[in-house]
Amino acid sequence: MRKLNIAVIGCGNIANYAHLPNLSEIEQVNLVATCDTIEERAKQAASKFKVSKFFTDYRDVLELKDLDAVVIATPPDTHKEIAVDAIKSNKHVFLEKPLAATLEDAYTIYRTWKKSNVKFAVGFCLRHHGMFKYAKKLIEDNVVGEPVALWRVAIGTAIGVLPPVSWLVEKSKSGGMVIENTIHMIDSFIWFAGDITSALAQYKTERKGISIEDNAYIIFTHKNGAFSSVLQSWTATHTYESWGIVGKEGTVSVKGYVLGTMEVSGKNESLREVTIKEDPIVMYKKEMEDFISSIIEDKPVFASPLDGLKAIDAAVAAEKSSIENKPVRLPLVEY
Ligand SMILES: NC(=O)c1ccc[n+]([C@@H]2O[C@H](COP(=O)([O-])OP(=O)(O)OC[C@H]3O[C@@H](n4cnc5c(N)ncnc54)[C@H](O)[C@@H]3O)[C@@H](O)[C@H]2O)c1
Repeated sequence: MRKLNIAVIGCGNIANYAHLPNLSEIEQVNLVATCDTIEERAKQAASKFKVSKFFTDYRDVLELKDLDAVVIATPPDTHKEIAVDAIKSNKHVFLEKPLAATLEDAYTIYRTWKKSNVKFAVGFCLRHHGMFKYAKKLIEDNVVGEPVALWRVAIGTAIGVLPPVSWLVEKSKSGGMVIENTIHMIDSFIWFAGDITSALAQYKTERKGISIEDNAYIIFTHKNGAFSSVLQSWTATHTYESWGIVGKEGTVSVKGYVLGTMEVSGKNESLREVTIKEDPIVMYKKEMEDFISSIIEDKPVFASPLDGLKAIDAAVAAEKSSIENKPVRLPLVEY
C-alpha cells in the first residue's frame, strides 16, 4: 500500500516533543515537509527528522503534489486560516487543540469541514490515555455507570514559574487558559457524560501584565442532569491535582492527572487501586496512529471538529457566565 505523504505545520514544542518523532515512527507515513514561520525551526526539524523539504509559508506546503494530510501544531489564533485552506485543498487534517481561539473561528472550521470529504481529527489526546479510556470503560460497563458528578482540580504553577510562551498569555492568540488548556478536560467531561447544556463560572486574572484569566471555577450541567466542575489555577505556589467521576453505580477517582493514581469502587466492588502508569508520549502516538488509520481504513476519527466545537462552545459559555455573573445556556451556536 502507498504510504501517506504528510507535512507538519508549526515546528514548536508539541511538534518536536510528540508529532514529528511519532510520525517518523509510523510505518504508513512518509514525512514530506516541515513548515514554520521561523525558518530555522522548519529547517532544524527537517534535518532532525530526515524530511526533504521545509517551508515558511503553509500555502506552499498545500501546493505540494501528492500531499495527503497536514498536522497543524501552530498557536490557536492561526488555526482557522490554516485549517480552512487545508480543507479547501482537499487535505486530511490533524489539528492540535483547541479547534480555534474563538467560537467564531471554531464554527468556521466546523462548517468548512462539514461541506468537505476530508478526515479531520482534533488533538484531544486524553481520549487516548490509558486512565481516561479505562474511566470511559467503567462508565460503559456499568461499574461506575451513568455519570452523576464529575470533577477536575488543576491547581498549578504553570505561568507563574515556567518561562512564558508569549502567545499563551495573550487572549487574542490563545483564547485564554480555559480555551487553551482546560479544554482537554471539558472534552473529557463531554466524552464521559454527554452534551453540556449550561455553564456557571467565575474567572480571575491575578498575574499582572497578561490578558488571559489565570484562575477559573466552572460548573457545567449536562443533558442527562450530571454536573461537572473544574477549579483551575495557574498562580499557585505548589501543584495539587485530581479528577474523577461519581456514577450511579460506582466511583473512579484519580490523585494527580495523567500520571496520577487511580482508585475505583462500586456498589458491588470494594475499593481497589488501578495502576496505569503511561508516559504521556504514548497517548500522542496513539492519537496519531488513529488519525492515520482513519484515513487508510476510511473510519471516523477519535475526536472530530464537532467535538472541538462543542468544547469551545462550553468554554465560551463559561466565560460569558463569568462576565454576566449568571448561568449561560448552551449551545451558543447551531450544530
Ligand atoms: N495536546 C497537547 O497536550 C498540547 C500540548 C502543547 C501544545 N498543544 C497545542 O499545540 C499548538 C502549538 O503549541 P506549542 O506549545 O507547540 O507552541 P509553540 O509556540 O512552541 O509552537 C508553535 C510553532 O508554530 C509556529 N507558527 C506560528 N504561526 C505559524 C504559521 N502561520 N505557519 C507556520 N508556523 C507557524 C511558531 O513559529 C512556532 O514555532 C497549540 O494549539 C497548543 O494549544 C497541545
